[in-house]
This record gives sequence, structure tokens and C-alpha cells, in this order.
Amino acid sequence: MKQKIAYSFSKAAKYYEDNAEVQKYCAKNLVKIANQYTSPEAKILDIGSGTGFISKEISKKIYHLDFAEKMCKKTKDLGHTICADFEKMPIKENSFDCVFSASAIQWNENLEAVFSGVYKILKENGYFFIATYGENTLKELKTIYKKNNLEMTILDFKKSSRVREKLIKCGFKIEKFKQEKRKIYIVNIISLFQRVKVIGAGASNKSNKFSKKLLTKMNDDYLKKFGKKGEIYSTWEIYYFICKKSS
Ligand SMILES: C[S@@+](CC[C@H](N)C(=O)[O-])C[C@H]1O[C@@H](n2cnc3c(N)ncnc32)[C@H](O)[C@@H]1O
Repeated sequence: MKQKIAYSFSKAAKYYEDNAEVQKYCAKNLVKIANQYTSPEAKILDIGSGTGFISKEISKKIYHLDFAEKMCKKTKDLGHTICADFEKMPIKENSFDCVFSASAIQWNENLEAVFSGVYKILKENGYFFIATYGENTLKELKTIYKKNNLEMTILDFKKSSRVREKLIKCGFKIEKFKQEKRKIYIVNIISLFQRVKVIGAGASNKSNKFSKKLLTKMNDDYLKKFGKKGEIYSTWEIYYFICKKSS
């Protein structure tokens, strides 16, 4: 499964930025929130760095870590890039002042491995800034799957309480939590599927192939229930966590 996700993101690297409207928004907002906690000298790592949205929002060179090879190629000119799995953090303990992660941890089942890895590499009083997605993300699409008795192939986004609980278990103090919902409009269900795929979110262990007839029916259902002026919308629930390592 892990390899499939890395491969899916690698394939998505070329078209990612043109389709990652919500992800770009999240990265920008996360850096804005984090600004009040960081200093200009801070040594920063971005995990699940993708094409470098976080890096482009910060006016200095930072470190990047991602397991998708083609994503790593995209950040090598922005700063040091490590191509690795952040569940097995290959970095020296107590070496960073801040770690960012935007739109990335939701792909990882073992959040405890991710959070304890980040905790170790942070210096005392260091910060971990997270933006991730909540359980109401793509809820409209999930409703359409259910209406058509289809097996769910969309990622099961976690409740904020579950993420919070794991962060605390790994030693973090949560300094701030914010959540918001964004509605994204798109022309039809095929474009929505393409977007979900291009941002790498199509990686699932279940296949997602529908007949033309079924797709038309799903689109009609979607438009009727969640459409406006000929377009369909999807909800993205965004969670921001500001966490501190303090013993
Ligand atoms: C949706 S993209 C987000 C990229 C970027 N942070 C942004 O804000 O646009 C998720 C990224 O996380 C990476 N990723 C997911 N799980 C990972 C893991 N366990 N180790 C390293 N990278 C991971 C993927 O390869 C992908 O590039």
C-alpha cells in the first residue's frame, strides 16, 4: 500500500500544482499561522513536502522530505531534499526548530510512528505545524457512492480527536487547533475524480473503475443534490494543529 501511495504521488508530480487548489491554500494558511511561533533563524523541515508549497511560502531555504521520487526532484532547487518515508524518520535527534506538514499525514495509518519521529528530531521547545483533512472532506462524493451502493474507494479521513489523542500520546502539547470548511466548485464528477487522482488522492487499495452509464448517473445524482449553476461542489474540512515539544 505504501509503495502504491508513493508511486501515485510520483506520477502526480507533473500536474500536481495545477490541480492542488485546496492544498495550496492550506500550505499558505499554515505558514501564516506558524509565523507567530517561528524566528527567522529557525531550522525548518517540511515532511511530505510534495512540490514545495510550504517552501515557496517561506522566504529562506528549508529542508524537504518526501517518499515520492518525482516530488523530490521538484524541491531539490528549493533547498536540501531527503527522499524517504517519514514514518521511519532518517534524521538525527534534536536537530530541527520547526517541522511542517501540509496535506500529507492523512495518508499514513501509523500516526504514532510519524508523530514520535517528529518529536525526536525536534529540539526542546520546537514546533510541529500540521494541516490535514477532517472526516467531512469529500462528504458529498461519499453520499453519492452510498446512494449507488458502491464500495467506498475514497480515503477515510480521521476525526480531529483521533489526531489530537495521538499527538498528546507522543508527548506534544497542542498550543492551537483551528478548523475550517472550504467548498470547491468543479464542472462535473469526472473532473472531480481526475482532480482527486492528480493530487495523488486516488491511491487506494480498491479499484475505482465505473462504466460510462454509471458515471452519468452518479453525475446526475451529484448535480441534483450538491449542484449549483451547473457545477458540483465538494467540501474540504481542514484541520490546523500547532504543537510544541516541551517536557
Ligand atoms: C497531497 S501531497 C502534499 C504536498 C505538499 N505538502 C503540499 O502542501 O502541497 C502529499 C505528499 O506527502 C507525501 N507523503 C505521504 N506519505 C508520506 C510518507 N510516509 N513519507 C514521505 N512522504 C509522504 C506524498 O508523496 C506527497 O508528495
